Amino acid sequence: MTTPILSMEGVARWFPAPNGSVSVLQDIHLSVEPGEFVCLTGPSGSGKTTLLHLAALLDRPSAGCIRLAGQDVLSLDEEQRTGLRKHRVGMVFQRFCLLSHRSVLENVLFRFRYLDTPDREARSMALQALEHVGLTSHSDQPARLLSGGEMQRVAIARAIALPPDLLLVDEPTGNLDPATGAGIMSHFMELNRRGITIIMATHNTAVAGHAGRRLECRAGRLRETAPGGTV
Ligand SMILES: Nc1ncnc2c1ncn2[C@@H]1O[C@H](COP(=O)(O)OP(=O)(O)O)[C@@H](O)[C@H]1O
Ligand SMILES: [Mg+2]
Repeated sequence: MTTPILSMEGVARWFPAPNGSVSVLQDIHLSVEPGEFVCLTGPSGSGKTTLLHLAALLDRPSAGCIRLAGQDVLSLDEEQRTGLRKHRVGMVFQRFCLLSHRSVLENVLFRFRYLDTPDREARSMALQALEHVGLTSHSDQPARLLSGGEMQRVAIARAIALPPDLLLVDEPTGNLDPATGAGIMSHFMELNRRGITIIMATHNTAVAGHAGRRLECRAGRLRETAPGGTV
């Protein structure tokens, strides 16, 4: 049996509120195997981003256990968590999250921040990632001059410059027109074919149809809505 790349057992997340606390996720059980392409659907405010942040080790659960590549992440100190995240996880956000005045290449090189990858090697990997998304000719341009679709491709290049085991993607086509969004989706499909495990939050039902597995987030809980896998 393979080790799941991500597992959650009894995970809950609540936030402090003026009258007690607000519960966003409750009793989440999830196991994602290497190579899966999982789509996370559900209405706005249902906790998709919260779940992705927990998976990315950017947030801690209020209760429950999270394992990344078999490691219990709650047992790690901050430095170990950052190391695990940097080496194993890539993230792509709806709003691209680029440094607008920096060049495309500098944005991709951001993936190597806090890692001890030699400069030349990092540069070569960043350029390779830009080639993968078809943006080699834009590498010296400031990110702010790009179109929305190009910005998202830079964000993808940044996430994959150091190939992650797990790619977490939050509504990647939400700010793009349908044709551009379809192009972006084809990049994710290709990455998954290359063996990268993907968890993607999306409202786009066409996108969700391409995923091997579909989960719905509703009222703080996860529900499997397509065959394959177990929750
Ligand atoms: N840091 C926080 N403090 C308080 N409430 C939060 C915080 N982060 C998220 N929430 C709340 O959690 C709920 C789910 O948010 P989110 O995970 O962003 O949903 P989705 O991505 O599905 O739209 C929302 O009601 C949001 O206001
Ligand atoms: Mg969200």
